[in-house]
Amino acid sequence: MALVITVAQQKGGAGKTMIAANLAAFWATTRRVALLDIDPQRSLTRWHAVRGAASKPVVDVHLSDVAGWRMAAELDRLRDGHDIIIIDSPPQIETEAKLAIRAADLVLVPLQPSLPDLWAAEGTLKLALAERRKARVVLNRAPAKGALLTQILTQMAKGGAQMVEARLGNRAGMATAFARGLGVCESAPKSLAAAEIAALAAELERLLTNT
Ligand SMILES: Nc1ncnc2c1ncn2[C@@H]1O[C@H](COP(=O)(O)OP(=O)(O)OP(=O)(O)O)[C@@H](O)[C@H]1O
Ligand SMILES: [Mg+2]
Repeated sequence: MALVITVAQQKGGAGKTMIAANLAAFWATTRRVALLDIDPQRSLTRWHAVRGAASKPVVDVHLSDVAGWRMAAELDRLRDGHDIIIIDSPPQIETEAKLAIRAADLVLVPLQPSLPDLWAAEGTLKLALAERRKARVVLNRAPAKGALLTQILTQMAKGGAQMVEARLGNRAGMATAFARGLGVCESAPKSLAAAEIAALAAELERLLTNT
């Protein structure tokens, strides 16, 4: 029976698709991973198409590209044959994103250290709480330190948001890998970015198994 991770954040450009792709590529060698792209922008689907056309063979990751209203049926279909299903959701909290949150064992909310990201994350976290879903914020494109980062972390803590310890920096290598249909663990396995993704994946696995 698959565990479902929904990557959700109503702020556009927070890193949902990037994180979904990188986690899937990381887990692909050891787990049966499926991606479910319900975002009409179809960025993850396009990443997957590039991956399929890549000259260097890479481990296959299943991707389903369905309209949000068909998500529940598709999830049921995918659950049996996979260990992990990662849903990439659209930025707005519309019905589809709500359904994706409802279906999740874990909601992962990427947050770039900026106030608009923080405000948007609050809405996503509220929704996860209303649906009684386990939710964690992951800092993305985060500097190692700085006044803004401290402010954001303080406000998150005040609001009671739970964060994963793993953080992702602003990594050009991730964007380069994405353009090639790869995860950074495949294109640059010894990089800091790959280590960050591995740490995030390990933490998520712990969260998913400690239910
Ligand atoms: N950790 C990172 N390091 C470098 N670039 C990043 C990182 N995370 C995201 N990006 C870049 O930021 C941009 C937005 O990322 P992404 O498309 O994953 O966001 P999104 O939340 O899925 O956006 P949308 O809401 O539009 O679907 C992309 O150009 C991506 O390459
Ligand atoms: Mg996206």
